[in-house]
Amino acid sequence: MKNIIPLVLALFAFQICTAQKNQKIEIKIDSLLKLMTIEEKVGQMNQYNGFWDATGPSPKNGSAAKKYEHLRKGWVGSMLNVRSVEQVRSVQKIVVEESRLGIPLIIGFDVIHGYKTLSPIPLAESASWDLEAIEQSARVAAIEASATGINWTFAPMVDVSRDARWGRVMEGAGEDPYLGSKIAIARINGFQGDDLTDVSTIAATAKHFAGYGFAEAGREYNAVDIGTSTLHNIVFPPFKAAVDANVKTLMNSFNEIDGVPVTGSSYLQRDILKGKWNFNGFVISDWASIREMISWGHAKDKKQAAKIAATAGSDMDMEGYVYIEELAQLVKDGVIDEALLDDAVSRILRVKFELGLFEDPYKYCDEAREKEMIGNSKHHDAVLDMAKKSIVLLKNENNVLPLKKEGQKIALIGALAADKNSPLGSWRIASDDNTAVSVLEGMQSYKGNELVYKKGADVSVGSTAFVKEVKINTTDKSEFDEAIKAAKNADVVVMVLGEHGFQSGEARSRTDLQLPGVQQDLLEAVYKVNTNIVLVLNNGRPLAITWADKHIPAIVEAWQLGTQTGNAVAQVLYGDYNPSGKLPMTFPRRVGQVPIYYNYKNTGRPTNKEGNVFWSHYIDSENTPLYSFGHGLSYTTFKYSNLKLNGKQFKIGDDVTVSVDVKNTGAYDGKEVVQLYIRDLVGSVTRPVRELKGFELVEIKTGETKTITFKLDKETLGFYNNQGEYIIESGDFKVFVGGNSIHTLDADFELN
Ligand code: NOJ
Repeated sequence: MKNIIPLVLALFAFQICTAQKNQKIEIKIDSLLKLMTIEEKVGQMNQYNGFWDATGPSPKNGSAAKKYEHLRKGWVGSMLNVRSVEQVRSVQKIVVEESRLGIPLIIGFDVIHGYKTLSPIPLAESASWDLEAIEQSARVAAIEASATGINWTFAPMVDVSRDARWGRVMEGAGEDPYLGSKIAIARINGFQGDDLTDVSTIAATAKHFAGYGFAEAGREYNAVDIGTSTLHNIVFPPFKAAVDANVKTLMNSFNEIDGVPVTGSSYLQRDILKGKWNFNGFVISDWASIREMISWGHAKDKKQAAKIAATAGSDMDMEGYVYIEELAQLVKDGVIDEALLDDAVSRILRVKFELGLFEDPYKYCDEAREKEMIGNSKHHDAVLDMAKKSIVLLKNENNVLPLKKEGQKIALIGALAADKNSPLGSWRIASDDNTAVSVLEGMQSYKGNELVYKKGADVSVGSTAFVKEVKINTTDKSEFDEAIKAAKNADVVVMVLGEHGFQSGEARSRTDLQLPGVQQDLLEAVYKVNTNIVLVLNNGRPLAITWADKHIPAIVEAWQLGTQTGNAVAQVLYGDYNPSGKLPMTFPRRVGQVPIYYNYKNTGRPTNKEGNVFWSHYIDSENTPLYSFGHGLSYTTFKYSNLKLNGKQFKIGDDVTVSVDVKNTGAYDGKEVVQLYIRDLVGSVTRPVRELKGFELVEIKTGETKTITFKLDKETLGFYNNQGEYIIESGDFKVFVGGNSIHTLDADFELN
């Protein structure tokens, strides 16, 4: 008790201090708004790209000269894709020293999984289920990026997606809203820290609000058609969690929902986000998404697009040239109220004040810090740690893994094994080419075995670039023979196969989820001469590797692990790191099962009790996935027992306590992600067959047993009805606890 009083007082003092600080900011915003012309207000709502084609298609009407002129007039509130202290300082200097009011720019960039030193792609990081590590990874990214003048990242992407055809699943946290919410919070905390005025923190963006992960048929930029229940229970939760975690900005998305492009949706931006959730940061459009409402057929011209977007609550126009060209006149003509501008500008200024940009517009511009931080060796240690934690052991028959460290002949096969770019993923705009440690290099650092490398076949042909389509090698098998020869003479074959780094990410949808190009043929040809294969997958999305699962004894999901890829993979293959990753997305048997996800609905005909054909199934494939959500093995084994609840009957509002014993029954110390799912058996809106409601990453020594306890409370036992209200209903529930979403212990309870 003694210690509690000073703690409460400190908290109280902190709250008063924060409230006073916020109040001061509001006063400053009001005074500044009074000084601003309509054009200057519109200027704050205008964001320009720094150099062409960086992360989107270049518009026709934005010459560099015009941008400079607008900077001087104070008609630009933000720039993106301006990199390095030198570049940032030069544009900041123009607005601060030459524009009438000198309002500093906020500088945005896609710091998605690192800046120069890259962590694993976000989907891979999510496979760690390690919230501390994920937060730390975002922290490192913020430290590097902020040292180059950037103070705002367009991350995290918190779009839930169930469709592996959609290339951007690599940028999210997978298919689950609960896990996605926890990871969203971790990333935001990592980027923003405790104090946004600290020079090593940057403002975060939860994107893309909303529904972007549900693009029809997984085709990028496509329309979205989802029901109210999916919107509220699956799509919204990570955004809501982000807002509650004090994320400073949200980005809207390219898609429409129910015939309304979300950039023009008042329901999403005003009613839900700024209304119900009380969000006081600002909304940035996605690249030209305001203008694209014309192509959608929702606005007839730029004028109408500007009116719709500003009214709907899109506060800043990213490289769209719509606000800057149309908005001021619309206000002068009385078509839109200046109060709308005041609201948007206040939000933008608020974030600039909170970042401390008014005190010192050049605070992020320190060449010495830039030099020290970019590529700092500490960052390499951090991304290596994250990379190891992100690896998922999908299969390990007969303990093929870990590899013996001595006396073995190892054939390493696959173009991706020597690739120093693909492991960096597609979001590598600030990193340098050829900077990933390849798997070949990682394996070479283990000297006890004889290692022979053969490419076997290229994954792609011709040159590749972020803004261009990657061409896959579908014909050239001329180097197969050499690889087969090497495999024949080897004790173990390690094959690194999968996707080219530019095969996933924005605008990289696929209709086929198998190994691209001739790699499946290569795998089968090698298998004919040596079945002792370890398949290491490099990919940005779940793949349908059904043949491999049937034939290959060991499969390691190594995603695209960033700068330290090769070292992480080698340490796992050689057993210096015991893998503990679990899939954040379901792997299908075939692409035709997509969208496939663990929290599906039971349907009216879930089984074939009668032995006839009329039940919910395929006639040419099982319903079940190849690898379920939450699946992932270890070099050790875990046994679950003694699942206990603190009762059988509870009142709505009570907490339900669940405990389980987990024993490490294998020969290695290891980590396990203990997962808790529930099923609400009957609902006024039908409930999924399982819903993740808790997880804990625990370290358990060989032979040791740990008891893990979870609490199910008001936050976890309810759901959103079709009016968007959160409700908890009485009735029967099931609880499942285990090491994945399928093989679990279960117990029952009732809520009244
Ligand atoms: C388009 C992408 O959808 C978005 O996520 C990204 O932040 C912007 N381009 C800026 O690069």
